[in-house]
Amino acid sequence: MAAQNPFAGNAAEADAGRGLFRIMCGPCHGIKAQGGRGPDLTLGVYNAGNTDRDLYRVIASGVSGTEMPAYGSRIGDDNVWRLVTYIRSVANRREVPVTGDAAEGEKIYWGKGGCGNCHRIGQRGGVMGPDLTLVGRKRSIEYLRRALDKPNADLTPGFYTVTVVTKQGQKIQGVQRSFDNFTTQFVTADGKVHSYQRDDLQSSERSYTSLMPAYTSWSEAMLNDMVAYLASLRGEAGK
Ligand code: HEC
Ligand code: HEC
Repeated sequence: MAAQNPFAGNAAEADAGRGLFRIMCGPCHGIKAQGGRGPDLTLGVYNAGNTDRDLYRVIASGVSGTEMPAYGSRIGDDNVWRLVTYIRSVANRREVPVTGDAAEGEKIYWGKGGCGNCHRIGQRGGVMGPDLTLVGRKRSIEYLRRALDKPNADLTPGFYTVTVVTKQGQKIQGVQRSFDNFTTQFVTADGKVHSYQRDDLQSSERSYTSLMPAYTSWSEAMLNDMVAYLASLRGEAGK
């Protein structure tokens, strides 16, 4: 590894990095690096460390035991530095400071918020919504705030609503696990997984809306406490 990023601040190389990123990294980190299955890379703060060399190392060697692959031998030194340069060029979004009390947020989460009925943190919680164990690394403060009172604004990819009516006329609604021309699978609020051949149903529809309730009646203080708790969820021991 070079001692320094040979392309630091070079706009043309950052642009070349953008092209690589969209194809190779976008499926996990989002097309604009704002997060998805992998963390948001635009925050300018990284678990791997905050220097260009830290970013180089994580891209070249991957993170073992996670989905983050090692790219060093596949794409070569220069391309890794181009990716680092691109990430630097988009990592200037100013992060809103966290003002809430994470310990209060945790109480609300498992108590009156009812969040634990649908979301898992570590080994605890329900499975209807996405696992939030690492959400503080994946998502920006803004995104977390919006998830609470406007769940439809930024749907988590894949977690769409499926509504079916059985041949007996029973209507069931849940969160999609899979949906294709022949079958559908979804999870209801009780955590149960339902699987159907679509032919065996009277109707089956998918809508791009969220089954998460919108917490619009909460005070600003409660919302801030909850965001502070979510932002603290970084998959570290004891969380
Ligand atoms: C298959 C999904 C996947 C792909 C493809 C992928 N990543 Fe990752 N990436 C992850 C995950 C998951 C993590 C978090 C690993 C962990 O838990 O520490 C991660 C972590 C990272 C980190 C460290 C973030 C931090 O806070 O320490 C960087 C930088 C990064 N990826 C860049 C890239 C680049 C650049 C590419 C494309 C060349 C890429 N990733 C492709 C899933 C992916
Ligand atoms: C009835 C089930 C249910 C309850 C209760 C619920 N959620 Fe959700 N939540 C979901 C579903 C389904 C999604 C995925 C669709 C979407 O993006 O809204 C989701 C998405 C999210 C996301 C976005 C995750 C991501 O990475 O995109 C966050 C954050 C979140 N919920 C936090 C909470 C918190 C905090 C509470 C309690 C105040 C809560 N949820 C209560 C079902 C629920």
